[in-house]
This record gives sequence, C-alpha cells and structure tokens, in this order.
Amino acid sequence: MGGIEMGKQSMFDISGKTAVITGGGGILCSEMARALAREGVRVAILDLNEAAARKVADGIRQEGGQAEAVPVNVLERRSVEAAREAVMGMFGRVDILINGAGGNKKEATAEKDFLFFDIPPEALKFVFDLNLLGTILPSQVFGEVQAKQGTGNIINISSMAAMRPLTKTVAYSAAKAAISNFTQWLAVYLGQNYSPNIRVNAIAPGFFITEQNRFLLTEQETGNLTPRGVSVIEHTPMRRFGVPQDLIGTIIWLISDAAAFVNGIVVPVDGGFSAFWGV
Ligand SMILES: NC(=O)c1ccc[n+]([C@@H]2O[C@H](COP(=O)([O-])OP(=O)(O)OC[C@H]3O[C@@H](n4cnc5c(N)ncnc54)[C@H](O)[C@@H]3O)[C@@H](O)[C@H]2O)c1
Repeated sequence: MGGIEMGKQSMFDISGKTAVITGGGGILCSEMARALAREGVRVAILDLNEAAARKVADGIRQEGGQAEAVPVNVLERRSVEAAREAVMGMFGRVDILINGAGGNKKEATAEKDFLFFDIPPEALKFVFDLNLLGTILPSQVFGEVQAKQGTGNIINISSMAAMRPLTKTVAYSAAKAAISNFTQWLAVYLGQNYSPNIRVNAIAPGFFITEQNRFLLTEQETGNLTPRGVSVIEHTPMRRFGVPQDLIGTIIWLISDAAAFVNGIVVPVDGGFSAFWGV
C-alpha cells in the first residue's frame, strides 16, 4: 500500500473486506454495520445481546448484504477467542475491527443527590472495564490475526469526554481518555513490531442521544432537554445532536485507502463541540 494513486472512486472502495464490529447490536455500531455491508463488506456483528446482533445481521441479509451475528462478552478473553474462531471459520480473515462495545452507567455518574465520594468501586470498575478492557481484549485477539495477515485496520470509539472530561461522567471520561491513549499505543506497537500496513485510529463522537446518555440529556417524564442537554446544544456550533449516520463517512474514510497514511489519531465527529470553549 503506497501513496494514493487511484481515482477518487476507488480510493474509498472497501468492498470485499471483512469486518468485526463489537457492540454491533447497539445504536451507533449497528448503523456502522449496515453502512459497511452496503459498501460490500462482510460483517460479523459481535454483541453480548445476541438477539440484538441477530436482528441487525438479519436486516443486513434482507437488504442483500453479508452479515453474521456472533455472541461475545468483550470482557472475557475466552469468549472473544471463541468469537474469533467463529469469524475465521466464516470469513477466513479480519481486515477491520471496530471496537464499539462500551458505554456509561448511571451508578458511576456523580449527581447532586449521588455524590462522587459515594460512587461504589464496582460501578467504577464496570465502566472502566467495559470501555477500556473491552477495547483491549478484542484488540489482542483480533489484532493477532491482523499481525499474522500483515494488514489490518482497527477503529476504537473514544468520546468528547476523553479530550476534556465532562462533568458527572467520572469513570466514563477516564476510560475514554485511556482509549485515546491506547489507540496511539497500539498504532505504534503494531507498526513497529508487525507491519506498516496495520493502522489503528479512533473516532470521538460528539453527543448522540442513546441509552447511555438519555438520562443525562433528556427528562424522563417529558422528553424535554435537561439543562445539560441544552448546554450541549449551545456548545455545538452546528446546534444539534448527532445522528448515527453522521459517523459513517469518517468510518469509511478511516478504513479505506483514502486514509492510507492516517495512523494513531482520534477524529472528533462532533458538529464542532470540541472546537468551542463556550465564549
Ligand atoms: N451515544 C453517544 O453519544 C456516544 C458518544 C461518544 C461515544 N459513544 C460510544 O460509542 C459506542 C457505542 O455506543 P452506543 O451509544 O451505540 O451504545 P449502545 O448501548 O446502543 O451499544 C453498545 C452495545 O454494546 C453491547 N455490549 C455491552 N456490553 C458488552 C460486552 N461486555 N460484550 C459485548 N458487547 C457488549 C451492548 O449490548 C450494546 O449492543 C460506545 O463505546 C459508546 O461509549 C457514544
């Protein structure tokens, strides 16, 4: 893979590749799975929620794409290895790994009536593990496949919470900052020790209303924005929350040859949130 010598059309061509997407049954990553399948990528949808993964895979197949659901717990090495065996049996290789499984937990979030000082260690550990360990373990197991192949592409999911911590989400902010750090670490490690043709990058989505943050951004009873939700919109120059489709172009760019010399970076996809101090 040299510099970019191809036409615009083929530069972004990712057809024929195989992708493993953890958390592929979830809101953001199911959209990625569908989008990649439309581009001709064979996708393995890995999720703890097997029914959700199956639903996404079925939907893709109905559209004419190629997808398989594979149950996994990204926090258990043996489970991830079993998923690798299943994926290798089906596809024979892993060109792309998207580490999408992650999220926050209310019990690990500091509130006025639930102080930082009282957050139980189990809740902190749950969020650290789900995000950081849940990114590192699949990167070990599927990264080894890519090291043997000599080519590969890994995309991690960081967050706005990583660049400067968000109020309230103490464990989540720390865990996502660690994911940005790990993205750089792994890019260097795989490049130095295995192949210059394995790239590792991350995206840092802005604010997308999903299950992990609905309780922070909207009032449960009315559905109206909370003061925090209003503040997010005020600090987003594009003045809206993201929708899952907003992430797709960046994902395709990062895994295509159009990003052939892009390695070890974290790309904000945030409507300008991270560019604005609020003044
Ligand atoms: N929603 C946002 O605004 C936002 C912003 C920045 C980053 N993110 C990140 O994007 C990623 C996807 O978020 P989402 O909002 O689509 O969340 P989601 O809850 O819809 O999806 C997460 C998926 O991960 C799966 N999962 C949970 N634990 C697992 C485990 N142990 N093993 C395997 N799968 C497991 C869940 O079943 C779920 O399907 C997460 O890493 C999240 O932190 C979200």
